[in-house]
Amino acid sequence: MNLYRSVSIGPLELPGNLFLAPVAGFSGRAFRMICVGEGANFSYTELVSAESLIRNPAGPVKALLRRGDNERRYAVQLFGSDPLRVGQAAALLAPWRPDAVDINAGCPVPKVIKTGAGAALMRNPSVLGRMVEETVRASRECLGGAPVTVKMRSGWDSSSVNYAECARIASGAGAAMICLHPRTRVQGYGGKSDWSHIADLVSRLSVPVAGSGDLYTPQDAERMLRETGCAAVMFARGAVANPLVFSQTRSLLVSGGWRPAAPEEKIRCAFRQLELLAGETGERVASIMMRKQFCACTKGSGESPPDGGGIPGGAALRNRLVHAETIAEYRRIFHDAGIG
Ligand SMILES: Cc1cc2nc3c(=O)[nH]c(=O)nc-3n(C[C@H](O)[C@H](O)[C@H](O)COP(=O)(O)O)c2cc1C
Repeated sequence: MNLYRSVSIGPLELPGNLFLAPVAGFSGRAFRMICVGEGANFSYTELVSAESLIRNPAGPVKALLRRGDNERRYAVQLFGSDPLRVGQAAALLAPWRPDAVDINAGCPVPKVIKTGAGAALMRNPSVLGRMVEETVRASRECLGGAPVTVKMRSGWDSSSVNYAECARIASGAGAAMICLHPRTRVQGYGGKSDWSHIADLVSRLSVPVAGSGDLYTPQDAERMLRETGCAAVMFARGAVANPLVFSQTRSLLVSGGWRPAAPEEKIRCAFRQLELLAGETGERVASIMMRKQFCACTKGSGESPPDGGGIPGGAALRNRLVHAETIAEYRRIFHDAGIG
């Protein structure tokens, strides 16, 4: 069975099923462009506050919403707690022409939860349903009917696992795809994700299901596709550590083989991202913003085995990276380390 395949999300046709997840603080426009260049078939903005968008559509949210130059198809992810306000925010996305609007029903961060948004929506499935309805209506009226999708968790905690109910209500309200990250809100990002929830959801829904959780290597993606029958896999921390995971996975799925990335290749991606970002924000701001990305891509990416993932002497290297303020400084640090 060919596991690399096209995906239809409502009217949206995607040529492949390797997605880049929303990752707040990492998956900005420049990073998404790198991942698309490596073969990501679909990409998501990080979560964008519906309230901020309504309050000031020309304000700081603009930087989060911009499509990358090579990003032929992308989704904007919104978070909010009030269905009418999220619908109103979706209508304001018209100038950005998103190919899909995703509703965040998984964010575990207290600041988001206490407003009733993110994973808190799973404690209130009827609100989630109305939010989907309002967003679908806004999309029909203002976004040319771009599909509305929902990204959710397994539930709030282990005693209230209700992804099946939430997904049934969301798809009944018009959601064209559900992405499931099968951890509970209480688990945060720790422990292991429970892929059996993804397989179960696939068996219950007629709309496609995308799977997220613990995807670090091409083999992980292959196994999730095979074991769960999900339509697409969504890389998150695995892509941050190694954007080449998209081309590697495609290679594994299409031809049965893949080659681990050399440290130089991951670092080259980070330099390309830095240069793109510097074009948007100026060199100093971009250099400071890129510290965590450079650190992430010098750590083990989960490719180990076979290649150990991280860079030898990485800890000392990262002590220098967290102080870099210019592109030249980054170059010097890697030159001194004998890399790149
Ligand atoms: C730092 C960080 C930021 C994240 N930001 C978002 C976000 O903005 N929206 C969202 O739906 N999920 C977000 N996620 C969740 C990821 O999209 C993904 O579902 C989760 O990390 C599980 O995948 P992984 O185990 O392969 O990393 C974030 C995860 C991390 C670690």
